[in-house]
Amino acid sequence: MTYVFYLLCLCVSKKAPLISDLPMKKKNFTFSTTTVQYYFDSEFSYIEKLVPKETAVIITDDNVFAKHKKKFKGWNTIVLKPGEEYKIQQTVDVVIDQLLALGADRKTTLIGVGGGVITDITGYVAGIYMRGIRFGFVPTSLLAMVDASIGGKNGIDVGVYKNMVGLIRQPAFLLFDTSFLKTLPKSEWQNGFAEIIKHACIKDAAMFRLLQQHKLSDFQKDKKLAASLIERNVLIKTKVVVGDEFEQGARKLLNYGHTLGHAIENMYELSHGQAISIGMTYAAIMSQHLKHFKGAEEVVNLLEKYGLPTFAEFDTQKAFKILMMDKKKDNVSINYILLEKIGKGVIQPLLFVQLQEIFKQF
Ligand code: GLY
Repeated sequence: MTYVFYLLCLCVSKKAPLISDLPMKKKNFTFSTTTVQYYFDSEFSYIEKLVPKETAVIITDDNVFAKHKKKFKGWNTIVLKPGEEYKIQQTVDVVIDQLLALGADRKTTLIGVGGGVITDITGYVAGIYMRGIRFGFVPTSLLAMVDASIGGKNGIDVGVYKNMVGLIRQPAFLLFDTSFLKTLPKSEWQNGFAEIIKHACIKDAAMFRLLQQHKLSDFQKDKKLAASLIERNVLIKTKVVVGDEFEQGARKLLNYGHTLGHAIENMYELSHGQAISIGMTYAAIMSQHLKHFKGAEEVVNLLEKYGLPTFAEFDTQKAFKILMMDKKKDNVSINYILLEKIGKGVIQPLLFVQLQEIFKQF
């Protein structure tokens, strides 16, 4: 009898390890008004430990929901249409209606489970619903894991203007479950690598070399290699944001490739990674002329190695007009992020007239 019981326990423990037994790394990071708990190498099921099901509402999209239906069993879940085109006010209205219908109140925690669009909408709604409720993220795309879920900037697009409406407010927790990457299409891996290459360009020359030595499929095949790259990037971004949460200085470096990138992203319906890759390419060329940067060719080669577009034809005048609406500008100038060397980004104020001349040469 005891033996049977013992065998039964073995079977049970093999099949379903206790949540508390899962290998997991927890790190806390203190921002201006809150401490955010990061759970690395974790599993989705662990969110039960962080938020009781009855006080949580998960926000996800059709793609994530369809691929991981079982995970959402028993959770209040709002499922949105996927895609950047839905990162708009109408979607926010729909979510708020559904929260009201679910009886969500100030004790509710919103959990965004998805890519950058979902984390942005969730963080934004959590910031305004009942003047602000608790929220956390389980990023499911590489881009969301290394960038979009981190930093507290959450918002929506207005027409071609990316992230024009939003707020900076940190989540209570971030839970990283790399098993979501198993079902991620290659184009989404490439999307994430654009932000990873950005981090390497502005902050981490050693990571730039590591990326040169590997190729995308190495990270797709090797879970440990991918997990350590993700953690390295999460830490790079977090460190920058902790040091300058409200973007008065060093946080601007994270905009490398984004000034032009954001201008062309919605204009040509590019993925975020494609758009900023083109933005990084032209910023590297500008750095060559303005900062005597010697690594432009290496940057372009690395972007191409990871399947990202570099030089592209685009309407420079229209892009310039959209860029004039950028949030990082004043009336006459804009802070452009350039590279002094691989691993060292710098903030370069540029007069609009100067920039317009440069754009004419693209
Ligand atoms: N949510 C993205 C950021 O704060 O940069």
